[in-house]
Amino acid sequence: MAIHPMLNTAIKAARRAGNQIVRAMDHLDGLSIEAKGTNDFVSEVDRNAEKTIIETLLQAYPDHGILAEESGIKEGKTLHQWIIDPLDGTTNFLHGHPQFAVSIALKFRGKLEQAVVYNPMTEELFTATLGRGAFLNNRRIRVSQVNQLRYALLGTGFPFREERYLEIYLETFRRLFPNSSGVRRAGSAALDLAYIAAGRLDGFWEFHLQPWDIAAGALLIKEAGGMVTDMKGGEDYFDSGDILAGNLKIHQRLQKELAECLVTANSTTN
Ligand code: IPD
Ligand code: CA
Ligand code: CA
Repeated sequence: MAIHPMLNTAIKAARRAGNQIVRAMDHLDGLSIEAKGTNDFVSEVDRNAEKTIIETLLQAYPDHGILAEESGIKEGKTLHQWIIDPLDGTTNFLHGHPQFAVSIALKFRGKLEQAVVYNPMTEELFTATLGRGAFLNNRRIRVSQVNQLRYALLGTGFPFREERYLEIYLETFRRLFPNSSGVRRAGSAALDLAYIAAGRLDGFWEFHLQPWDIAAGALLIKEAGGMVTDMKGGEDYFDSGDILAGNLKIHQRLQKELAECLVTANSTTN
């Protein structure tokens, strides 16, 4: 099946931005970096990559809207909205730690239709179009078949920006870590979600993510046969930023564990 033209444009944008980011790896010492908040950094590389992506998308589709991490919302004339994280894993990038990605998704009438997550260091390109499956470098991918939590490799993200969320997060960690086969914190939520789609991780949980961290990864997982919800199994993950993902079995197991553990955590923090 031919690649959807809008996905093609997103791929072009992601590759351009990815090349720019990789070139910038050679002069990390001279970068100008700004703190947006505690442990929240942005560099000229994030901004330039975002500019490249938006220019590429709007050149092809000038009437589309944009929601991008660094420059915010630009209303469009149609019901299309591109959701962009130009560099997911900025902290890794700034340390020369090669685990980061460009994430681009397209929503139409509020529904995710296209997704690209591109790791420019490995040149791995994860793509999905609604109803057409998920792919890694043009090969079909599916979520894993691991069906017991004790054999599952889980991904997660730490609440490193707001300390007040740490206690509740640690409750979930205490619960899931000993019951799984391992937990990884790689530093790019978009790539973590793409890894679930590719069966490299079996489950994932993180609190307080932003739409641009989640959008492309969520469609990748659904198109790869997996499940994405908020912590309670509901649809609220885009607004709350609390996300639980995995293959169907592991997702179900995680949801059950979290339901018990979040009730206990809430009752002890109230
Ligand atoms: C961050 C990464 C990280 C996650 C953070 C995100 P950024 O994105 O996805 O894995 O734990 O919550 O903000 O700031 O590097 O684009
Ligand atoms: Ca991000
Ligand atoms: Ca970012």
